[in-house]
Amino acid sequence: MSLGEGGNAAFTRPFASLEGEVVLITGARQGIGAGVRDAFVAVGARVVGADLAWQERIPTRDPEGYWRAHVDVADEDSVEALASAVETSLGTIAVVVNCAGLSTMARVVDTPVGDWDLDERVNARGSFLVARAVARRLEDAGRGGRIILVASQAAKNGYRCMGAYVASKHAVLGLTRTLSIEEAHLGITVNAVCPGIIETPMKHRERVEGGRLRGMTAQEVEAEDNSQVPLGRTGTPQDVAGVCLFLASDLASYMTGQGINVTGGMTMH
Ligand SMILES: NC(=O)c1ccc[n+]([C@@H]2O[C@H](COP(=O)([O-])OP(=O)(O)OC[C@H]3O[C@@H](n4cnc5c(N)ncnc54)[C@H](O)[C@@H]3O)[C@@H](O)[C@H]2O)c1
Repeated sequence: MSLGEGGNAAFTRPFASLEGEVVLITGARQGIGAGVRDAFVAVGARVVGADLAWQERIPTRDPEGYWRAHVDVADEDSVEALASAVETSLGTIAVVVNCAGLSTMARVVDTPVGDWDLDERVNARGSFLVARAVARRLEDAGRGGRIILVASQAAKNGYRCMGAYVASKHAVLGLTRTLSIEEAHLGITVNAVCPGIIETPMKHRERVEGGRLRGMTAQEVEAEDNSQVPLGRTGTPQDVAGVCLFLASDLASYMTGQGINVTGGMTMH
């Protein structure tokens, strides 16, 4: 099977091209990353989930049907060690979904330099290191591939009390656009997913912290969240996972350099 080609076969079995392929997913322990991990397992990919919270240096089979491993996406050596260990243990990586990320919260005038650096390190530099490590290996393999970076609707809008996060996610979209141009001639597509309000441990923490900064309860922030979404509900990790599967499949072989909103209609540009 060759990654990156469309055609009618993809209409009847859209995820057939992913069966048996090695898919690397960072931030895979919880939240969006866990949802993406389970979705790729469900369509028959050989999934390596990597996360800061896991200790295994060699990908280790988990009873849930994926391999798990340690990575700190902000650390060059850690990312390179993971990519090499995955290739040694399972073979060439065909698809990567970089879900690892974090957010700090403060008004820009109150943002400590350390918080600014943390968002940039994990979200911007982490996306760069993961995308670079996989892109180099996809180039060597010469059979196309898929790089998917989880950005945010914060890559396209400003949000109060989230300046460092917003800036770091704008960087992810800039990286996506540039890398997509550089890799296109090799059949490697590079796209970003831009989720809106997704129910995860990060979102729950943001409601508490954001509420404190704005003099609101977490419940009031949640009600405000819901009222802003045209589809009338916040999102789930599965809502994001479905779009990642689509982008990884042959159905999306003519899409690259895009930032796909998964926001229930909240962001339209
Ligand atoms: N939840 C939302 O509403 C939302 C909206 C838009 C974008 N996003 C983005 O989606 C991604 C996942 O968010 P989430 O809500 O699932 O967050 P989460 O905090 O629930 O999960 C993030 C996971 O990433 C891991 N991680 C953090 N730093 C890491 C590092 N340096 N190296 C490796 N792993 C690391 C954590 O251990 C955790 O398992 C993030 O990039 C986030 O910015 C989330």
